[in-house]
Amino acid sequence: MQQAIAMLDSGVGGLTVAREVMRQLPQEKIIYFGDTARSPYGPRTSEEVRLFTRQIVDYLIQYNPKMIVIACNTATAVALDDIRSYVSVPVVGVINPGARAAISATDSGYIGVIGTEGTIHSGAYEHALKRISPQVEVVSQACPKFAPIVERGLFRSEDTWQTVRESLASLRATPIDTLILGCTHYPFLTEPIQEVMGSQVKLISSADETAREVSTILHDKGQLASSTQLPIHQFFCSGDAAIFQDIARQWLGEHIQDFPVVWQVPHII
Ligand code: DGL
Repeated sequence: MQQAIAMLDSGVGGLTVAREVMRQLPQEKIIYFGDTARSPYGPRTSEEVRLFTRQIVDYLIQYNPKMIVIACNTATAVALDDIRSYVSVPVVGVINPGARAAISATDSGYIGVIGTEGTIHSGAYEHALKRISPQVEVVSQACPKFAPIVERGLFRSEDTWQTVRESLASLRATPIDTLILGCTHYPFLTEPIQEVMGSQVKLISSADETAREVSTILHDKGQLASSTQLPIHQFFCSGDAAIFQDIARQWLGEHIQDFPVVWQVPHII
């Protein structure tokens, strides 16, 4: 049996990372868990997010994955070290990859970060950015309304554009040239965010860089999938499967069109 890469998020956000892993590593099997019943994680306490992350890892570990990707910034910020000491397989988060990508993208050294309340209050991005480049200026802002909009599949409505405009109004007045989408749900809102921030601001999603990190680790460990057969991915969510499937099909499109996908709703909660 092919060993999978296990990925988790509070909901559909981690699919933005899954899509990039599927694009860069099409032979790799993915087992994905979206905790839609308990989303959003952003306003929850660190203790809750750590507990939920552990529960999901306990569930996913039964499938004997070769790696775990915490495809959620909020969970990465508070639970990455805990999960790393808890399991014996490599665990990859999304914050260091996002910070690295932003540092390579910025010219002015002014970097903006948007994320959930949990991620922004943790200071994890600021810390990661300054560790790579101490002289960068970081402007952080929580956007608590974004992830719930994405979970409802409302990417293109006029209300969504209005919310994005209002939420980013103060960031627009800063001199940033690079903006980290510090929540894996936000790439679903790339269009309104780019429009509101203007084309001079580069948007950074952690997805590309995280997928590269996954690839490097598996390569170095000699664990890249060798099978020429396309994998059968598995998706789990803890809440309403219909809306999760609908969003996943729209987002993953070609990556899951030509080969089988298994959808299941586990009752781990
Ligand atoms: N997608 C998650 C993140 O990257 C969490 C969003 C939420 O559930 O609040 O932070």
